[in-house]
Amino acid sequence: MKAFVLEKYGSPLRDVEMPIPAPEAHEVLVRMVGSGVNPADDRFRSGEFKAIFPTRLPKVMGGEFAGEVIEAGAAVTDMAVGDHVYGYVDLTTTGTFSEFVVVDAAAMAPVPESVSFVEAAGLPVAALTTWQGLVEMGKVAKGQTVLIHGGTGGVGSFAIQFAKHLGCTVATTVSTANIEAAHQLGADIVIDYRRDDLAQRLADTPVDLVLDSQGGATLQASLGVLRPGGTVIGISGPPDPAFARRVGVNPIIRLVIRALSARTRRRARALGVNYRFLFIRPDSAALRRIARLVDDQVLRPITDRVLPFDQTPQALADVLAGGTRGKVLVTTDPKSVTSRG
Ligand SMILES: NC(=O)c1ccc[n+]([C@@H]2O[C@H](COP(=O)([O-])OP(=O)(O)OC[C@H]3O[C@@H](n4cnc5c(N)ncnc54)[C@H](OP(=O)(O)O)[C@@H]3O)[C@@H](O)[C@H]2O)c1
Repeated sequence: MKAFVLEKYGSPLRDVEMPIPAPEAHEVLVRMVGSGVNPADDRFRSGEFKAIFPTRLPKVMGGEFAGEVIEAGAAVTDMAVGDHVYGYVDLTTTGTFSEFVVVDAAAMAPVPESVSFVEAAGLPVAALTTWQGLVEMGKVAKGQTVLIHGGTGGVGSFAIQFAKHLGCTVATTVSTANIEAAHQLGADIVIDYRRDDLAQRLADTPVDLVLDSQGGATLQASLGVLRPGGTVIGISGPPDPAFARRVGVNPIIRLVIRALSARTRRRARALGVNYRFLFIRPDSAALRRIARLVDDQVLRPITDRVLPFDQTPQALADVLAGGTRGKVLVTTDPKSVTSRG
C-alpha cells in the first residue's frame, strides 16, 4: 500500500510503499477513502510537538479519516467488516495518510449517513475540538456569548454551527473575504481580524468563552474581552500545567510548559478570567453524537477542496497557504476529487 511518512523532523513527507498492517485484538483495519489535512500535521512535521509527544520515526502522518472496515480484531465487538467509519487517531500512533489504516476501535464511530464518505473525513478533528472545547472543557450554556477565532477555517466553521446549536450568541473573527461566509454559518457578530479592533467591537458584548485557534496577540486580546470569570480555551497554545499533567510529560518538560504559559496565566488571573489549553483526544462516543447531529441536519461539514491522495503534500501546502474555507481533504476515490485533480 502507499502511505505518506515522516522520516525526520523538518523533512517533507515522503510517499512509500509498505505492507498492509494487521490489526491487534482491539484494532480495526480500515480502507481509507478520505483523510482530512490539518495544520497540526505540519506542526508535527516541523518537530514542534516532539518534546511533548515523543514518537518513533518514520511514522505514517495524518490524523483523521473515513473509510470501510476490512478486518476487525478479535476483541472488537461494535464494528464489523463492511462498516463505514470515521475517526481521529492520536498524533503519536500510526496515521491516516495511508491507503489502509489500523485504528483503535475506541477512536472511531459509524459515519453520518447523510454526507459523503469523503466529507465525513473532514469532521473528526473539527468535531472533537468543538465538543471537547465548548462542551466538556468550556461547559457553555444556552444564552452565553462565545467568541470563535478563524470562523471560516476547518475548526471555526464547525464551531460556529455547534455554538449556535447550543443556543449561544456567536462572535467570530475572519478575514475580509470571509465576512459573508461567516454570517451564513450563523455567526451573530463578525469581526474582520485585519481591520477591526477586537476590544472595540466587543465593548458592549462581554464574552463568556473564547475558542482561540491563533495564540499570540489574538490570545492576549481575547483575555481582555471576557466577562469576569470567563475562559479562553487555547488550541494553538501555549500549553498549560493541566495539559502537562494529563499527557504525563517528564519533569523538565513540565517546567518548560509551566514557563511557556506563565505570562498568559498571570495576566488571566489579574483580569479575573481563566486560560486553559486543549489538545483533543480520540473519542468514539463524541463522534457518535456528532454523527447524529449531522444526520439531523443540525451540523454540516464544510469542505473547501478534495485532492487526490497522491497529492497529500500539496493539500497540506494549501492549508498552510491560508484562504481556505472549511476543510481540505484527500481521497483515494478519483470520483470524489473536486479540484486540482
Ligand atoms: N489543540 C488542538 O487539539 C487543535 C485541534 C484542531 C486545531 N488546532 C489548531 O487550531 C488552528 C486552526 O486549525 P484549523 O484546522 O481551523 O485551521 P485552518 O482551516 O487553516 O483555519 C485557520 C483560520 O484562521 C484564520 N486566521 C488566520 N489569522 C487569523 C487571525 N489573526 N485572527 C483570526 N483568525 C485568523 C484563517 O482565516 P483566513 O483564511 O480568512 O485568513 C482561517 O480561517 C491550527 O493552529 C491548528 O493546529 C488545534
